[in-house]
Amino acid sequence: MKLIKAIIKPERLDAVKKALEDAGYFGMTITEVQGRGEQKGISLQYRGGTIEVDLIPKIEMEILVSADKVDHVIETIKKGAYTGKIGDGRIFVIPVDASIKIRTGEVITE
Ligand SMILES: Nc1ncnc2c1ncn2[C@@H]1O[C@H](COP(=O)(O)OP(=O)(O)OP(=O)(O)O)[C@@H](O)[C@H]1O
Ligand SMILES: [Mg+2]
Repeated sequence: MKLIKAIIKPERLDAVKKALEDAGYFGMTITEVQGRGEQKGISLQYRGGTIEVDLIPKIEMEILVSADKVDHVIETIKKGAYTGKIGDGRIFVIPVDASIKIRTGEVITE
């Protein structure tokens, strides 16, 4: 089992969600986060001046999937999140030992 953690642009959330739903993936956790990548933030023109924005609002999306689904989910997220401009996001893949469903006690370990 893997946890796919994608940091995406907030304005791409609906497109990524739709792409995932269309591909058959429904479970997810969404968190509003702030982050920065290689550009260490961005410069914005505002009221005639320049403002340096260090941490930029992003959406973090967590999706737990079996290992054989990882490539498919990554491709689906990329399709929904891509604009071609800087800040399109990053995807991390993290190993997970177990998932327990509280209602039924079901334990999934792989
Ligand atoms: N090294 C890192 N460690 C943890 N989080 C990161 C790292 N790099 C990027 N992120 C997260 O991913 C978000 C999106 O990053 P971003 O798309 O700007 O990556 P990038 O590597 O700078 O790519 P690009 O050059 O396309 O902008 C960041 O706001 C941050 O939350
Ligand atoms: Mg960047």
